[in-house]
Amino acid sequence: MADVVLGIETSCDETSAAVLVANGAAPPELAGLVILSQDIHQVFGGVVPELASRAHLSTLPAVVDRALEQAGVAFGAVDAVAVTAGPGLAGALLVGVAYAKALAYAGDRDLIGVHHLEGHLFAAAIEDPELAPPFVALLVSGGHTMLLDVPAWGRYRLLGATRDDAAGEAFDKVATLLGLGYPGGPVIERLAATGDPARFNFPRPMRDQGFEFSFSGLKTAVLHAARASSDLERDRPHLARGFQDAVLDVLVTKLARAVEHTGYRTALLGGGVACSRALAARAAERLSGSARVAVASPRLNADNAAMIARAGWWRLARGERSDFTLDARADLPLPGLEIGESVPNSTSRNPNSP
Ligand code: KG4
Ligand code: ZN
Repeated sequence: MADVVLGIETSCDETSAAVLVANGAAPPELAGLVILSQDIHQVFGGVVPELASRAHLSTLPAVVDRALEQAGVAFGAVDAVAVTAGPGLAGALLVGVAYAKALAYAGDRDLIGVHHLEGHLFAAAIEDPELAPPFVALLVSGGHTMLLDVPAWGRYRLLGATRDDAAGEAFDKVATLLGLGYPGGPVIERLAATGDPARFNFPRPMRDQGFEFSFSGLKTAVLHAARASSDLERDRPHLARGFQDAVLDVLVTKLARAVEHTGYRTALLGGGVACSRALAARAAERLSGSARVAVASPRLNADNAAMIARAGWWRLARGERSDFTLDARADLPLPGLEIGESVPNSTSRNPNSP
């Protein structure tokens, strides 16, 4: 059993390291967490992969040192290193994996490669040690939108995924077309708070049946409405509100359908879009009386190494280890993912395909 796990996350534009400290089989506690967001991408309106890799390379050693310092733990006390091995940007992942391998090899520590989305699934468990499957999980990030039936940790049955844009990607693209910054989610949520919900009524794609999602048509509808506006300055908050209401309505309706379908009493929100307080509030409202909504605090829903350390700790506790052939894989499949066949209108597409 690994008592001290150092987590490393570099799959996209956050350079992060975390230290989890456990006592025996009790859930581990978060002792240190450093998240360095790469501001450089803001001026480009999106993540530039080559710049992300370079920034990880120059900052990761210091980020790891700071996380250890915060935890009051010397590297000599670390039992295992958990690192995001995919999916994500190949070059960015490679920096974390190479660094984790070097640390583990030089210090003769255990090494475990972690799937980024499994990390997102474990994020809420860091602050909520009681959280345990079975539950329904809505994973919503910049790259993925998936509804999962999780009967046990490590077993992920896909109910449905997006056919086109991920939910976070839709927020980012709509923010860009409204002339707002990157990432789009936080700025749209802020703006939407002052918007009139009755001003724009956008379509709710695929809301009324099944578990699959589609957001690209909604994005186009917002684009047309923005072009048709005679005063974009005035309409921007209303457009943001109309768009956010449509996305959240679809997400929450499908989450409620999945709760009903499985009969589970817990619904988990994970991934960057789960930073949205509006999403958490609407999910709790819709599911009141049927399921409790588990969601981590925003800093643990955005990309961070604590969730990677937590998922790694669980795999290490089961006796799993990676060897030094561990490689970064941009399209790493989620371990334990089963594509559900029996669900009406569920997806047959592999969500791991790029
Ligand atoms: O999980 P994440 O940090 O990175 C990926 O693995 O993709 O997710 C980032 C995504 C971005 O698309 C961002 O716009 C979205 O999460 N996001 C939000 C909010 N905060 C972040 N979307 C909606 N509302 C928010 N408050
Ligand atoms: Zn993520």
